[in-house]
Amino acid sequence: MSIKLGDTAPNFQAKTSIGDIDFYEFLGDSWGVLFSHPADYTPVCTTELGATAAFQGEFEKRNVKVLALSVDGVESHKGWIKDINETQNVDVQYPIIADENREVSNLYDFIHPNAIATATVRSLLVIGPDKKVKLIITYPASTGRNFHEIIRVIDSLQLTENQGFSTPANWKQGEDVVISPKISTEEAKQKFPKGVRELKPYLRFTPAP
Ligand code: BEZ
Repeated sequence: MSIKLGDTAPNFQAKTSIGDIDFYEFLGDSWGVLFSHPADYTPVCTTELGATAAFQGEFEKRNVKVLALSVDGVESHKGWIKDINETQNVDVQYPIIADENREVSNLYDFIHPNAIATATVRSLLVIGPDKKVKLIITYPASTGRNFHEIIRVIDSLQLTENQGFSTPANWKQGEDVVISPKISTEEAKQKFPKGVRELKPYLRFTPAP
């Protein structure tokens, strides 16, 4: 199944390193990050899962629950978590799905047979409290993801939703945002009292609220 932005993230039940879960129950009203990695006990994945654990506080601040997945089993995950904690100096608290029968991987299209025949690639979805898919990224096995970028996108998603503005290239929290082309400059001046900076009629900035 191919999932696209705006689709409802499908629910599933799965075995994980912290016990059996129902995905929707696990998420509750929170945002979610669901990410796959190729295999346990591999070097890049070890750094990625460590980086995610190191960002636990950042995810919590943003009301985001994190869930990892690979096609290895629960006992393998538990043993590997000890290594991640030891080598990355973290405490992995989030669950890792043991998707040995590939049910979740197939549901979320995490297996790309022309890239890696049997395992999952590095895909990541951000899911909103409405269970809609807000971000999909897929990296090759050779490239560890940048979790600063994931946090940056979540900040943008949470800031911009139905606000009449978007975030420009390389935007970071606190920087100016761009006003939607659907809003006239006159309307924008009313809506954004902190000021409107117009470079072109279609390219207008305002300080982030
Ligand atoms: C890694 O995590 O280092 C890795 C995993 C699968 C294929 C290649 C690299």
